[in-house]
Amino acid sequence: MFGLAQHCRESWESYDCRFSSLFFCVFSPFDISIRMPRHQIRSPKSTVDLSPVLRDVEELPDELSSQSMFGNDLPLEIEVGSGKGLFISAESLAHPEHNFLGVEIIGKYASHSAGRLMRGGVANAIMISGNAEPLFEKKIAAASLEAVHVYFPDPWWKKKHRKRRVVNETSIRNFSKALRVGGRFHFWTDVLDYFEQTIEMIAEIAPEFGVPIPEEEVEATHDLDYRTHFERRSIKHQIPVYRVRYEKRF
Ligand SMILES: C[S@@+](CC[C@H](N)C(=O)[O-])C[C@H]1O[C@@H](n2cnc3c(N)ncnc32)[C@H](O)[C@@H]1O
Repeated sequence: MFGLAQHCRESWESYDCRFSSLFFCVFSPFDISIRMPRHQIRSPKSTVDLSPVLRDVEELPDELSSQSMFGNDLPLEIEVGSGKGLFISAESLAHPEHNFLGVEIIGKYASHSAGRLMRGGVANAIMISGNAEPLFEKKIAAASLEAVHVYFPDPWWKKKHRKRRVVNETSIRNFSKALRVGGRFHFWTDVLDYFEQTIEMIAEIAPEFGVPIPEEEVEATHDLDYRTHFERRSIKHQIPVYRVRYEKRF
């Protein structure tokens, strides 16, 4: 478990390296200030009780559902790899008629996202600290989800590491099984190779998803008006983003 989280930290760093070297080349080889600043993530103060919005995977009920996590039957959406939690905090506030679970494998990011939910006074979203894969394998009932969201998953550039990608054959089958008919799978990335491979793979192994539906870029009206932090990074640095949604047909 620690090993996988550690790998993910390394993968984030490789994401940053790509950004840094790209901008180093594209703009000015001498202007180091143009490189992406790497802010330290802030953990919420230890005095803040995050228990209403944060669970460790070890503390979860046998089955993850709106009933078991929120005590109601609202449609449930899950984000895999929430990072700093911009999507889950904004989306849960915008859609009080749904519940949201964010799963984040790096503990300090899970706490940071939970802090964001707490500050927003959100009652319909909870962060789970841990690995999403076993949750989809064991804890989510078939046809129970309204949506699965995966935004800017770690790219794992090297061919030998691609099996670590969060969107792979097994996870696609699991997401599909977990979604109800009509449910959505949102997948955005700025890594063309990851995008193309995923589209091809879905066409091959999950025909029930139908055709990919392009999702449009929405122009931001303020500095946090992006779907996720990685979307903000990409747009600010003019990196193309590939966005699709699938809607399960049968
Ligand atoms: C590149 S970041 C993107 C974060 C966020 N989605 C965004 O767009 O800003 C990918 C995130 O996925 C998390 N992650 C990777 N593998 C995971 C897994 N198996 N379960 C849960 N989270 C995972 C990483 O720790 C990281 O926070």
